[in-house]
Amino acid sequence: MQNFKPIITNDGSHTFYVPEIDECYHSTNGAIQESRHIFIDAGLKQCEKTEINLLEIGFGTGLNALLTAVLLEKEEIRAKKINYTSIELYPLAVEEAMQLNYPELIAQKDDNLLKKVESFFEKMHTSPWGKEVQISEKFFLRKLHLDFTLYEPNGSFDVIYFDAFSPEKQPEMWSEAMFKKLYLCAAKNAVMTTYSAKGAVRRAMQSAGFTVERIPGPPGKREILRARKLSKL
Ligand SMILES: C[S@@+](CC[C@H](N)C(=O)[O-])C[C@H]1O[C@@H](n2cnc3c(N)ncnc32)[C@H](O)[C@@H]1O
Repeated sequence: MQNFKPIITNDGSHTFYVPEIDECYHSTNGAIQESRHIFIDAGLKQCEKTEINLLEIGFGTGLNALLTAVLLEKEEIRAKKINYTSIELYPLAVEEAMQLNYPELIAQKDDNLLKKVESFFEKMHTSPWGKEVQISEKFFLRKLHLDFTLYEPNGSFDVIYFDAFSPEKQPEMWSEAMFKKLYLCAAKNAVMTTYSAKGAVRRAMQSAGFTVERIPGPPGKREILRARKLSKL
């Protein structure tokens, strides 16, 4: 077991450093800030559906899932239900995840909200793999313990959070073949966001069929990518 200890990023929120690949789970410029900007604002908030099927590549610390559940709880998006599927090959131990300071930072001194957010976060990490679990009234989580490179997704996803380790460290995750799998399981008008703005990644997404735009990134990152599955005429 890794026995990860949190490190603090520039917005005060935690992340983990992985020595084997010399990379963190999030940007050291701010983990919460990065997740909100890339996955919530640029991705999820673009979807107008009332029930959203969402796929995440890389559950990791559960930060994206937690921010998504809280947004839904606070009714800051139109959706009334989110079915959240997340793929993870190397799950963290519950004790590692419970060290992270996300609930207190997300609740921002609102005690009622803090209780809910803590309970969501704990449920997310203690829930069994391979089963759908209800985390809140409107948020349903299905964590899948498997290798994305070998996974054949079924379903039809409206929003995709592509949050693998970087293309430099995990090139096999960012190939055209991987994006083709995602294109095939993406619903019409689906939106996918990621933090990398590399030309090779953009071209791999385009070759897989996505329409891709570069959009401004969070502090410390000039640009990120947003891909859509637009209906062909
Ligand atoms: C950049 S981290 C982000 C994780 C997460 N979204 C978060 O906010 O903490 C990348 C994640 O992808 C996972 N991962 C790496 N290779 C994978 C693979 N082949 N299949 C599924 N997950 C993988 C890692 O274990 C890690 O949790």
